[in-house]
Amino acid sequence: MAQQRVMRLRINGKDHPLALDTRVTLLDALREHAHLTGAKKGCDHGQCGACTVHIDGERVLSCLTLAAQAEDREITTIEGLSGPDATLHAVQAAFLRHDAFQCGYCTPGQIMSAVACINEGHANSDDEIREYMSGNICRCGAYPFIVAAVREAAQQLKEEQTA
Ligand code: FES
Ligand code: FES
Repeated sequence: MAQQRVMRLRINGKDHPLALDTRVTLLDALREHAHLTGAKKGCDHGQCGACTVHIDGERVLSCLTLAAQAEDREITTIEGLSGPDATLHAVQAAFLRHDAFQCGYCTPGQIMSAVACINEGHANSDDEIREYMSGNICRCGAYPFIVAAVREAAQQLKEEQTA
């Protein structure tokens, strides 16, 4: 039998108490209930990466995560990536500069994945970026530009850290 209960999801630093069926995925909770439609549903079974968000700073596929699993943890979506004054995150700005998207549907997932990829220390070479970004599919074929954007953002963030 379907069960509903109020779940407290902490999304982009804000509490969202949502009455949810316990079977609801994090992706559907974000999109349908919290009305954050940045995370996209390309496949709903873990193959495309369009639904990538962060939980406690780590990238996860929100279509394969139950909302219940994300309770009391820090969820970050593409909407929460820019600074308080809406300054773009270094990865967002680099995607713009390098034309690393076309239709934009894979882009929120690509960017969330790229931020985590850099934080994991997996952005040291183009080959490494390609490998660790391979969970995010782009039908528009923006891959070369995505690699260039991730490389540049990684470099920039590194310089900022050591400055
Ligand atoms: S929608 Fe989650 S991996 Fe495709
Ligand atoms: S920009 Fe269209 S799928 Fe990647």
